[in-house]
Amino acid sequence: MCGIVGYTGFREAYPIVLKGLKRLEYRGYDSAGVALINDDGLNIFKKKGKVAELEEYAYTKNMQSQLCIGHTRWATHGEPSDRNAHPHLSHSGEIAMLHNGIIENYAQLKSELLKKGYSFKSDTDTEVLLNFIDDIKKENACTLEQAVSIALKRIVGAYCILLIHKDDPETIIAARKGSPLVIGIGKGEHFLASDASPIIEYTKEVVYVNDYEIAIVRPNELILKNLGNEVQTPFVQKLDMELAAIEKGGYDHFMLKEIFEQPQTIEDCLRGRLDAVGGSIILSGISNYSKEILQANRILIVACGTSWHAGLVAEYIIEELCRIPVEVEYASEFRYRNPIVHKGDVIIAISQSGETADTLVALENAKEKGAIILGIVNVVGSSIARLSHAGAYTHAGHEIGVASTKAFTGQLAVLMMLALKLGYENGTIAADRYQLLCNDLASVPEKVAQILKLDDAIKKIALKYADARDFLYLGRGYNFPIALEGALKLKEISYIHAEGYPAAEMKHGPIALVDENLPVVFVATKDSFHEKVVSNMQEIKARKGQIIAIITEGDTVSPTLSDDVIILPAIDEIIAPILNVIPLQLLSYHIGIAKGLDVDKPRNLAKSVTVE
Ligand code: AGP
Repeated sequence: MCGIVGYTGFREAYPIVLKGLKRLEYRGYDSAGVALINDDGLNIFKKKGKVAELEEYAYTKNMQSQLCIGHTRWATHGEPSDRNAHPHLSHSGEIAMLHNGIIENYAQLKSELLKKGYSFKSDTDTEVLLNFIDDIKKENACTLEQAVSIALKRIVGAYCILLIHKDDPETIIAARKGSPLVIGIGKGEHFLASDASPIIEYTKEVVYVNDYEIAIVRPNELILKNLGNEVQTPFVQKLDMELAAIEKGGYDHFMLKEIFEQPQTIEDCLRGRLDAVGGSIILSGISNYSKEILQANRILIVACGTSWHAGLVAEYIIEELCRIPVEVEYASEFRYRNPIVHKGDVIIAISQSGETADTLVALENAKEKGAIILGIVNVVGSSIARLSHAGAYTHAGHEIGVASTKAFTGQLAVLMMLALKLGYENGTIAADRYQLLCNDLASVPEKVAQILKLDDAIKKIALKYADARDFLYLGRGYNFPIALEGALKLKEISYIHAEGYPAAEMKHGPIALVDENLPVVFVATKDSFHEKVVSNMQEIKARKGQIIAIITEGDTVSPTLSDDVIILPAIDEIIAPILNVIPLQLLSYHIGIAKGLDVDKPRNLAKSVTVE
């Protein structure tokens, strides 16, 4: 949720950490801060608000140092403010620490420390953990590393922490459980961060730190230990990411860049997997489990947010093509409702970041019960990817805009390939239908490029409805989850209240909302439900609702019922969801821009939700 960055080496550390925080700002932007050691001793500089506010505040300060740790915050405990910003300073004044995660047993620890005369400057769980470590160090007269190791054995919750001590201007102590930590290896220097984006411009050699590991990091040394103080061998991996992937590339916003990247990212996702001419699909990461999947009594899909919407599309497609029952679960509910999971059950976990705590803990539980976990993930090397038995990456590249766009279409592409492959192996799809669907899937990148040419027209429609107070998104069948996704995008980006609904369900309540002030977006492309959708449009029109319809070229009926139409190229109804979401992404983007909002960093949100 929060973004953390650290550097120890021969270069000026503060500029490197500041730049890294800006790269990680999509993880949280409630406050930012750094701690460093120089001639003035151990100093902390922190400000409420975005990293830019910190940069301005520190501009006149002595920021010279070869060691620095930094944090950009998504508030959990304690409102966004200077005093709740990280890093925090220990009661003794000796240690500075920052944290990404939630300490669930902090209240108990706090009461123990209060009895010992500790006082607290902030409302955060983090300062409690820090003083707990400070106290252990004092009581046991041990090193900071030892104190951290002792303390973490009593901690309940998720954490990635970085600590520095006033008397040691070279060493960063780091530890993680649940929250991500990557360490970049340089010559005479090391970089620490929540993900690889702050590291990529300096080195491609990285180590993904595992749960319950502590790292002792110096310019020329990286030691990994478990909480039992046993040294672990770092597993060094090479990053396959380019710097350009994390730059705006001339676009005003990452969200717009990522929407326009989709012809290429979907191409990248299909490449080497879908051979439409040969009629074959290879998902090497999953094929070892085809038998288990095909023999499964049911398939469970577990995810959150936009990824959950991709799961819902997959439910419709897998049941249609493979005739295997599918249940789609909100990870947070699945985690705590004590679900029935049998040994050998197949669970498909969908996640862009691969770090979403709700999904991660739900999978850990299911894995313990013997389920087979197949991950569909975008971030290479992420926790869900490493926890899964097998899986497929969506190859959408680094997604920085908080509102997920290209990762969603990547997820749909992988799920469509999976359903086609399994259906073919299961003999539940006729050969000609299979071939037609493969051809249509292969045509998606080019058709998405066509749709992106409608950007100006969609912008005009967006400006017309930007002042609406509410929106309703309706769709049937494969398009129902797309209606949900369209509504979510608008909520995230424009803060307009929007609801997605199965079009027929509308008559059972939401139709009461309809009047001349309510824009209703219909995902009404040609499919086996189209006639039904047209009658739903007539029901809305009869109540003066304003209709914006996503339709298929050649549809002559829907335009007569709509105030605005967005015409898309024809494609099979099973593949259509991957096209139909594009205009909804652009609509929400342009409405957000029209309202003067920060579409890359919407309020209260973070790109990767690493706390439950
Ligand atoms: C989508 O635009 C949001 N950023 C959010 O709903 C997101 O989909 C959800 O948090 C799940 O994230 P994940 O795919 O990284 O697990």
